[in-house]
Amino acid sequence: MNPPAPMDPPAEVRAWCQAARRPCVLSGAGMSAESGVPTFRDTPRSLWARFDPATLATPEAYERDPALVWAWYQWRTHLVRRAQPNEGHVALARWARSRPELRIVTQNVDDLHERAGSPEVIHLHGSLFAARCVACGRPPSQPLASLGDDGPPPLRLLPPTCAACGGLLRPGVVWFGEALPPGPWQAALDAVTRCDLLVVVGTSGLVHPAASLPAQALARGVPVVEINPQPTPLSPLASRVWRTTAAVGLPQLLPD
Ligand code: OAD
Repeated sequence: MNPPAPMDPPAEVRAWCQAARRPCVLSGAGMSAESGVPTFRDTPRSLWARFDPATLATPEAYERDPALVWAWYQWRTHLVRRAQPNEGHVALARWARSRPELRIVTQNVDDLHERAGSPEVIHLHGSLFAARCVACGRPPSQPLASLGDDGPPPLRLLPPTCAACGGLLRPGVVWFGEALPPGPWQAALDAVTRCDLLVVVGTSGLVHPAASLPAQALARGVPVVEINPQPTPLSPLASRVWRTTAAVGLPQLLPD
């Protein structure tokens, strides 16, 4: 039988967090789970257990049925707008205030790190709040209408058109089969190359290239700490693993 997970933060990891001057955090969907934002894979309520990514999260899906795809992302945007940063987001933002060189690399397309007060958030998979024209790439010229709170979300919703060229707007997220945006990817590589501690929180570590970042830190001899209630492919490789959640673990681990 496995030993029970420690309730208190491992003392050594607390000391590493205290001593780190250039920490880097890699976050995934579990980071926002306690804010009520669904994850992708780990529960029956997770998005890819309920929805087929091939019909919602690929360029081909958008070409086939832009109204279906747009409506689904508007629903997700609506969920995120109603969500609040959790204690884990807040603890990271506090840490960032005392560590100006801290970098947060996130796979999340929500804005909860920013709303908690973290600067310098690197979004590897884009953002729900960065729609752009599918033809000319421009952002919308004015804020987009959001879904109201009444009634069920629409199954189909025609995307707005671009004021500049008349093309359809698309969600500003990275879809399966698309490359990561080069600027954020380079920034993530730089952050992992410079960091003196990498904290990996709330990611299953199954989606590349984001999942390759911890190995790069380990190869440099930098300690990698995993915070996740479930085992992942990173667990046997990580320097330390704490089986707890983001909102419970991070406030106990990180210095004020
Ligand atoms: P996943 O849904 O694959 O994994 C979520 C991870 O968070 C799992 O390992 C859970 O055990 C863990 N977890 C759940 N609740 C947690 C909590 N409260 N605190 C800490 N950890 C918790 O999400 P990601 O790894 O982020 O890509 O998925 C990576 C990418 O796959 C996403 O960015 C998305 C998806 O397809 C795109 O949309 C491009």
